[in-house]
Amino acid sequence: MEPSCLSRLAPPTGRRVQKGWEVSGNSKLSLNSIPIEWPNSGEVLIRIKAAGVCGSDLAQLNETGIAPLNATSIFGLEIAGEIIAIGSGVELWAEGDRVCCLLSGGGFAEFCICPARYCLPIPNGFSWNEAAAIPMGITTGWVSLFEIGKLNAGNVVLVHGASGGVGHIMIQLAKAFNIRVIATCSSADRAEFCRSLGPDAVVCRDSQNFVDFALEFTGGAGVDVVVDMGYGTASMNMEALAPHGKLIQIAPSSVPASLDFRMLIDKQASIVGCSVRGLDAGVKACVAERLAADVWPLLSARRIVPRITTVLTMQQLPDAIAILAARGSMGKVVCAADA
Ligand SMILES: NC(=O)c1ccc[n+]([C@@H]2O[C@H](COP(=O)([O-])OP(=O)(O)OC[C@H]3O[C@@H](n4cnc5c(N)ncnc54)[C@H](OP(=O)(O)O)[C@@H]3O)[C@@H](O)[C@H]2O)c1
Repeated sequence: MEPSCLSRLAPPTGRRVQKGWEVSGNSKLSLNSIPIEWPNSGEVLIRIKAAGVCGSDLAQLNETGIAPLNATSIFGLEIAGEIIAIGSGVELWAEGDRVCCLLSGGGFAEFCICPARYCLPIPNGFSWNEAAAIPMGITTGWVSLFEIGKLNAGNVVLVHGASGGVGHIMIQLAKAFNIRVIATCSSADRAEFCRSLGPDAVVCRDSQNFVDFALEFTGGAGVDVVVDMGYGTASMNMEALAPHGKLIQIAPSSVPASLDFRMLIDKQASIVGCSVRGLDAGVKACVAERLAADVWPLLSARRIVPRITTVLTMQQLPDAIAILAARGSMGKVVCAADA
């Protein structure tokens, strides 16, 4: 039933305002009082229990990332929490349901609004922190490996930035579907961390040439897909690719990237950009359905497990972002709701 007109004046929390982190024009975060909204048709209102911290948050703060036009100014892209109110027409969920979801923004706050179709149940046995650590990695992994990459069992993917929040989930997702994985990272301790996630091979980029390795690993054929988080290796990525291979770029290059297009043409290869935040609403909902059917059982069976290396509170968000900026984390950093 539609909420009454009177209840629209008073959100179900009994409060009209909440604390949420906003970013100002000079790349500064500030904890502000913001309104608590009532869910519109097709939306749910969630009391946030934990929020994942993503490289995309850092990119947004540094203004190297691109936020969708209609995104809220409240920071935060992935959360886990409890539904406390539903808008009209929502049949999938009820008040009290425990969900996690990918947001266009609004996750570093006490409450957020999310389209009901983007919500996924908390996988069996997952804590709030674990559930908050998966939406971004698993969605980016699914879209890159399967929707864009069209990878099948036995294909080979090379994943850069493999020790990070997105990369460490992507490795496990690919392996769960019997895709062969070469993970790259930048130091010996990160290589050790990557190995613990079960890829077929780990290349430490600082001491080993990943192109030589990829060609040797594939008997000279090259890999089917490279997933790159923007470390300026466009021409090396292209060298590592097999004919008709795909370079999937999920972040802009941190240094000017140059590429000899002759190699692209000779290999009849493609370069495809991936932005899960910018996905069309219908596509995002469709991806959520696929994840529920094909990936959630793997999470519940703990065949894919987020590795959370740091848990801070929501108040400590600037510290969490600083950890990512200093490249001081492996796996995932999570901010738990303030008690
Ligand atoms: N397009 C999309 O839809 C999408 C979605 C999510 C994230 N992203 C982007 O993907 C990237 C990774 O996100 P994340 O959440 O995994 O971040 P993260 O947890 O901070 O991990 C980033 C990883 O990248 C590696 N890295 C290599 N060079 C780096 C550098 N110069 N600065 C920082 N890290 C570097 C690091 O591992 P090594 O040092 O071992 O290589 C690190 O583990 C970000 O740029 C983010 O904006 C894009």
